[in-house]
Amino acid sequence: MMLPVRPRRSLLYCPGANRKALDKARSLAADGIILDLEDAVAPEAKSDARDNVRAFLAGDGTISGPGSAEIIVRVNGLATPWGKEDLAMAAGAGVKAILFPKIEDEADIHAAMDRLARAGSDAALWAMIETPRAILNLDSIARAARTHGRLVGFVAGTNDLAKDLRLGPPPANGHSPRFALLSALSLIVMAAKAYGLAAIDGVFNDIANEAGLVAECAEGRALGFEGKTLIHPGQIGIANAAFAPDPSALARARAIVAAFEDPANAGKGVLKVDGAMAELLHYESARFLLAEAQAIALRQAPSV
Ligand code: COA
Ligand code: MG
Repeated sequence: MMLPVRPRRSLLYCPGANRKALDKARSLAADGIILDLEDAVAPEAKSDARDNVRAFLAGDGTISGPGSAEIIVRVNGLATPWGKEDLAMAAGAGVKAILFPKIEDEADIHAAMDRLARAGSDAALWAMIETPRAILNLDSIARAARTHGRLVGFVAGTNDLAKDLRLGPPPANGHSPRFALLSALSLIVMAAKAYGLAAIDGVFNDIANEAGLVAECAEGRALGFEGKTLIHPGQIGIANAAFAPDPSALARARAIVAAFEDPANAGKGVLKVDGAMAELLHYESARFLLAEAQAIALRQAPSV
């Protein structure tokens, strides 16, 4: 059975305190919007931000419709003065996905799930992976998905990770500017895939540097992320293009599916398709890719 595919090429953070940005968010082509109550909101603005997000959610009739942007609320940590109220607001508004910051171990997942249950929310849970401890505990964090089927994915928090690692400028040796983060990013993908979770790459801060974003999206994709978190509307088009299946891969996928579904090949486990070997595992990947392309095509074109 093919799992339903939801495109997550681009998840745009939208600061809850910025009403102008919230108004704009509805009309953008991002696959998802992360309504942020945490890092992007100053302590003095936390309460206003929560009210703004509540109003946004009340006015949003497309919270989970097919083809509409996925709406995710990033709450403050449960140990902060704001986390519990954020969660109560999100639960009350019926939001379908909640992103928890600074998840560091399995107990944090259990605590988040417990809170969600007590708030009467059936929201899916996303975890920010953004501390060295979280990286070291990835297996047990991801394994919590088996206990709580509502854990759906990891978001890499590269700014916090870089801060904790006290990274200096990247080496001038032709390596990726994210040289020091690459092993952590790869482990995030590995743990996510080991337990059937989504993995979304961190943000690119240099809004004006389009070439840099193109390169970083390509890097994230090559590492196995299915999309990137973004901070500015100008970054959406680049991420959507970078994380979409490319035309040659789609053509190959169509050929593989056609070959395996040809009655003449019934019962065969391996075929030669256009000169290259295709096994049943490639058939499975091909079907997934075609479903992904179909889901992207379904994503409604925004009105603006
Ligand atoms: N979501 C929705 N709209 C956004 C946006 C976002 N993340 N960032 C900017 N916009 C809007 C602006 O409101 C502005 O709207 P307008 O055309 O109606 O005036 C337009 O896009 C152009 O914005 P611009 O002037 O280029 O940027 P800015 O100076 O207003 O904002 C930032 C720059 C970095 C402050 C802003 O992009 C931002 O807050 N990004 C998200 C930060 C965040 O959430 N961080 C936490 C996770 S790392
Ligand atoms: Mg953070």
